[in-house]
Amino acid sequence: MIRVEPPREGSDAARVADVEAVCFGAEGWSEAAVRAELDGVPDTRHVLLWLARGEVAGWADLMVVGDVAEVMRLAVLPSGRGAGAGRALLRGLLDEARRRGSERVLLEVADDNVAALALYRGEGFVDLSRRRAYYADGRDALVLALPLTM
Ligand SMILES: CC(C)(COP(=O)(O)OP(=O)(O)OC[C@H]1O[C@@H](n2cnc3c(N)ncnc32)[C@H](O)[C@@H]1OP(=O)(O)O)[C@@H](O)C(=O)NCCC(=O)NCCS
Repeated sequence: MIRVEPPREGSDAARVADVEAVCFGAEGWSEAAVRAELDGVPDTRHVLLWLARGEVAGWADLMVVGDVAEVMRLAVLPSGRGAGAGRALLRGLLDEARRRGSERVLLEVADDNVAALALYRGEGFVDLSRRRAYYADGRDALVLALPLTM
């Protein structure tokens, strides 16, 4: 079940920060960082939560500024992966980007993130550029783009 635009309550930020820690380790966003994103809803942010048995098991965060949207975050707890949650969250963000009139959607992804790359490319994202040593551990990031206007 996806809950759209969660209320800005402290517990949501705490649960999302737990997901961040599990999914991204030291690079996961803190509760304060997550709360700052939730504070941007709905002006510049659109946030979706993936709930499993009532608990936050994944989340997705879109930034929309001008005519460009950017996927800021997409994460699903390992126990919930492989069941369509990631794709549903991503498609929810893309629907919102279209609804807001975005012309394209951008995102950054580590060049060795096989699962995420397969998901994004499967939804039509194409490579735009490479950011060398973008991450703290020295991995490159790929910048992917999805044009929304035809
Ligand atoms: C990337 C992520 C969000 C995918 O979530 P998920 O719920 O497992 O994804 P889905 O079940 O919706 O799978 C959608 C597609 O992703 C791809 N995919 C998912 N897991 C994969 C894997 N282990 N290997 C290869 N491709 C994979 C497939 O193309 C899949 O489509 P298919 O089932 O039709 O083959 C999840 O792996 C995750 O949270 N990873 C850690 C955080 C992260 O890397 N986020 C992205 C940062 S840019």
